Amino acid sequence: MRAWETFNLAASDERAPGQPEVRRVSPQTIAVRSRRLVGRDREIADVAESVASVSIMTVTGPGGVGKAALALAVAAESSALFPDGVFVVWLAALRSADLVVGEVAAQVGLQRSGGESNVDALTRWLADRDLLLVLDNCEHVMSAVAQLVEELTARLPRLHVLATSREPLWVMDEQNHRLAPLTVAGTDAGRAEIDACPAVRLFRERAGARMHTSLDTDRAVGLMGEICRRIDGLPLALELAAAMVAELEPAVFAGGFDLA
Ligand SMILES: Nc1ncnc2c1ncn2[C@@H]1O[C@H](COP(=O)(O)OP(=O)(O)O)[C@@H](O)[C@H]1O
Ligand SMILES: [Mg+2]
Repeated sequence: MRAWETFNLAASDERAPGQPEVRRVSPQTIAVRSRRLVGRDREIADVAESVASVSIMTVTGPGGVGKAALALAVAAESSALFPDGVFVVWLAALRSADLVVGEVAAQVGLQRSGGESNVDALTRWLADRDLLLVLDNCEHVMSAVAQLVEELTARLPRLHVLATSREPLWVMDEQNHRLAPLTVAGTDAGRAEIDACPAVRLFRERAGARMHTSLDTDRAVGLMGEICRRIDGLPLALELAAAMVAELEPAVFAGGFDLA
């Protein structure tokens, strides 16, 4: 699809055979997908409060830190404020900045036609609605997203946008939340403290279900704390490490496994 192709508003909520799925995400779907977030209650509450009060909110941080997961949880938390719902646009697979406007229009369900420009079509469609537009993974097409968001929010005072990106969009009125990895326990922490830290809770949740060995021994908790610390509490890395440990279980948990 090309950026300058246009969309027909008349059929905006209908999906013709072969057209992309309309990405209106129901509160229930979001709630189910975000239900399992570990250790982010404070961040969810803070970002949800900002989403309600500013027009452009960004969640930034390194890849795998949990930006998309947080955005969905915030969307679930905030959905009651948006009578026309939450629309999630996934930009990760987009190859070129030129395609951003067309992609957003397509993913919210606007159909192509020969009329208005994409931005005008989106503006008109959004003008009748109270909704939250979530734009996920903006980092590789940032300037195009920034331009679009600035244009839309200038024209539409009721619009709320929540974008995830490695870096801020640097647009007027943007509020940014820099998302940190999950907290890990220090080297001198005792068993209870290690067990309670969010990184270990996520690791335990992901590894535990697949393992035969108990994770409730001093040695297992110590190992989990060490692994989580070494990968700095990054959720994606924790999930991969948990899967690997579950796979290598006998080697990891037989005495003498050396993490050095
Ligand atoms: N707080 C959390 N609790 C549980 N799983 C999480 C949490 N944060 C992230 N994840 C998981 O970690 C992985 C990476 O998160 P994601 O939101 O895709 O990161 P990002 O968008 O920052 O690259 C996903 O599988 C996600 O479900
Ligand atoms: Mg992401």
